[in-house]
Amino acid sequence: MTRIEKRKADHVEVSIEKDVGSHYNYWDDVKLVHNALPEVDLEEIDTSTTLFGRKLSFPLIVTAITGGYGKAAKINENIAKACEELQIGMGVGSQRAALENGDESSYSVIKDFDIPLKIGNIGAPQLIRQRNKEAFDLSSIQKAFEMIDADLLSVHLNFLQEVVQPEGDTRARGCWEALRVIAKEFPVMVKETGAGISREVAERLKGTGIKGIDVSGAGGTSFSAVEKYRSERIGDERGVALGETYRDWGIPAPASVILANVGLPLIASGGVMNGLHIAKGIILGAQCAGVARSILAAAMDSAESVVKKLKIMQLEFRTAMFLTGCTRVSDLQKKEFIITGLTKDWLEQSKRRIL
Ligand SMILES: Cc1cc2nc3c(=O)[nH]c(=O)nc-3n(C[C@H](O)[C@H](O)[C@H](O)COP(=O)(O)O)c2cc1C
Repeated sequence: MTRIEKRKADHVEVSIEKDVGSHYNYWDDVKLVHNALPEVDLEEIDTSTTLFGRKLSFPLIVTAITGGYGKAAKINENIAKACEELQIGMGVGSQRAALENGDESSYSVIKDFDIPLKIGNIGAPQLIRQRNKEAFDLSSIQKAFEMIDADLLSVHLNFLQEVVQPEGDTRARGCWEALRVIAKEFPVMVKETGAGISREVAERLKGTGIKGIDVSGAGGTSFSAVEKYRSERIGDERGVALGETYRDWGIPAPASVILANVGLPLIASGGVMNGLHIAKGIILGAQCAGVARSILAAAMDSAESVVKKLKIMQLEFRTAMFLTGCTRVSDLQKKEFIITGLTKDWLEQSKRRIL
């Protein structure tokens, strides 16, 4: 196994075996207002939506998780089968491994499935020259698209993870310009990986010409925690200390949905565990939600397990629409919500005083 394959395997293994969640799930701070007289039949509710011109049966994508090592092919196949059956979007994990070693099979497996929205993935640190690595050029980006017949490429921002990782790429200067260059040639969106997007960053990202933002805020998987446990395995005290100290670093996911709303399509992610969380993301202004770790155990088991999990999320989402009296997803965005706790504090004290 190469170093990069081992890292990809570790990420999945550690995320399953260890408690890598943040200490606080900020979605619990968001409350929808109950409608005791909904005047709509549960069955008549239309949960479908359109994201980047593609129709999804309900507003969810399974966001970037894996690829690039042996077991990843089965995980991606199980997710792909489920996303085909449910007709929702799917992203693959970072395609760096395949772009570096040429083995595309664990990613290209998703090509065989009729998924309405396929999203490729590459890290922003790989778009610029690192200490001893050249940046990916436009032909590599083209390959990433072709590898999975992608509709869109997600560029991930993961500098928290890179700084905790012993082997991390910590050069960040030049990412904005690199994004601008590739966004001119290809449909690109930007995602975080669990630390969220601020208003200021969202505005700067908009200036690159990207098509959307997946906030991936704090409250769910903490990549700082993931890298802490990886550091523990190899006896790297530096990584253990940094990983623990920065475990809960980041912008609360629901606050990020509100703050990063600069007129681009928004995906609410980071700690989304159920269909009620999806509804909360939509009510705050996102077009869609994204899940990663909450379906990982199912994805390691079978496509049927993923389908089961996603169908429950869809029913939970439909139930939120029913109990708030919504017939269509767009109705949800006009409904009242209440924000409490740490998320309220965060929003009140953020400079723009959005609330
Ligand atoms: C095992 C695992 C591997 C991941 N790998 C990637 C990746 O390669 N690229 C990426 O953009 N995000 C990656 N992520 C981050 C997720 O896409 C997501 O942004 C983050 O986990 C927060 O969502 P969650 O709380 O639903 O897990 C990964 C997440 C997990 C759990």
